[in-house]
Amino acid sequence: MAPRTFAVAASLMASFNAMAPTVVDASPPGSKDVTAILFEWNFDSIGRECTRTLGPAGYGFVQVSPPAEHIQGSQWWTSYQPVSYKIAGRLGNRDSFQNMINTCHSVGVKVIVDTVVNHMSSGSGTGTGGSWYTKYNYPGLYSSYDFDDCTSSITNYADRWNVQHCELVSLADLDTNEDYVRRAIAGYMNDLLSLGVDGFRIDAAKHIAAQDLANIKSRLADSGIYWKQEVIYGAGEAVQPTEYTGNGDVQEFRYAYDLKRVFNNEKLAYLRNYGEGWGYMSGSVAGVFVDNHDTERNGQTLSYKDNAKYTLANVFMLAFPYGAPDIHSGYEFSDNDAGAPNNGRVNACWQDSWKCQHAWPEILRMVAFRNAVRGQGVTDWWDNGNNQIAFGRGNRGFVAINKEGGSLTRTFQTSLPAGTYCNVQSNSVVAVNSSGQFTATLGSNAALAIYVGKSSC
Ligand SMILES: *[C@@H]1O[C@H](CO)[C@@H](O)[C@H](O)[C@H]1NC(C)=O
Repeated sequence: MAPRTFAVAASLMASFNAMAPTVVDASPPGSKDVTAILFEWNFDSIGRECTRTLGPAGYGFVQVSPPAEHIQGSQWWTSYQPVSYKIAGRLGNRDSFQNMINTCHSVGVKVIVDTVVNHMSSGSGTGTGGSWYTKYNYPGLYSSYDFDDCTSSITNYADRWNVQHCELVSLADLDTNEDYVRRAIAGYMNDLLSLGVDGFRIDAAKHIAAQDLANIKSRLADSGIYWKQEVIYGAGEAVQPTEYTGNGDVQEFRYAYDLKRVFNNEKLAYLRNYGEGWGYMSGSVAGVFVDNHDTERNGQTLSYKDNAKYTLANVFMLAFPYGAPDIHSGYEFSDNDAGAPNNGRVNACWQDSWKCQHAWPEILRMVAFRNAVRGQGVTDWWDNGNNQIAFGRGNRGFVAINKEGGSLTRTFQTSLPAGTYCNVQSNSVVAVNSSGQFTATLGSNAALAIYVGKSSC
């Protein structure tokens, strides 16, 4: 059974109606909270990566792209247009999905499934698993009755009914207030649970009423299963992310948007109170990321194309105690629609355009740092008023980031026990003396990270 915590509904809401606190998994269960999102990797490749990299590095979770049968086509977004709930997409069949779960579990990595239940497809044809479909008609699963409350596109994000009943980019929108639809969605998710899935990322959750999702979740074999909802914050919108925290975690998009702005145009010194101090959701229910598969394409966040800035932003996210971090791992693209290389087969990282951000040494080694400093707040913050920062995580770890053109040489004050430590950013040893101090030089656009338990490189 996963550990549970109480998440109190946003105080604003609570003051309007005296809601009892809801019991949810307020952050990913277990002692390792970092998720690697292996975007459009096939199941066999993910299983290998669990063994080769994710397990040894200390990742708690891997998130897989939508496994359900979907429309045909080479574009990545075909994965987000299901036509049945058979595991029969481009990434593998039911057997390879089951093998992946067993393999990842054997090395201590849990599996989260990106779950598309707001909508079905547009168009008509035969799906990746051979199922015939037309928009609004998926034989044996859904018929037009299950989509008929608004059959036109969303036009007004200030109108709750429009956002939650009309069609996201013209995709057939499921009536999730219908008992039959709720039962069908819960059936799909229970099938995934029966295969050993450990959590769900709910795609397009903003377009499903929070109470509909609560009802669906209540029908699951494990109604306390880890649950991470995509509710994109928009100022002035009718539907707000905090409505969903009673169901589980919610992805905090402002975190990623602001991180881009700070790294591009502002000062890292501003990050001292990053998180709730910036008006975000409680860190206990927030999923955070530097980028995801949508924002690396639409430019709303940093991406691999930002090189060192992107690396340092991921280092900061993993070092700083706010939310549960996702590391997005995709492939190089110039065409925003381009699907994954080799239909999702990854022979090796950094080949065939696979970027493997989750395995970049500067990012990968911060996963163990994060696990080692878990539960410790920020201590010993230092900044130069500009783009050089450093902070500790109690008496467990310390990090410094230099996002300036020149090098940084300084004696840092920490709360660490005296001893030698491996700076995992550069694989060189640092000596902390009995005053908790050490002196080091960081090059331009470089970081330093040391933690208890890693005394030699
Ligand atoms: C620790 O190192 C700092 C910087 O070199 C130095 O100023 C301080 O005196 C040292 N403390 C001890 C107890 O050695």
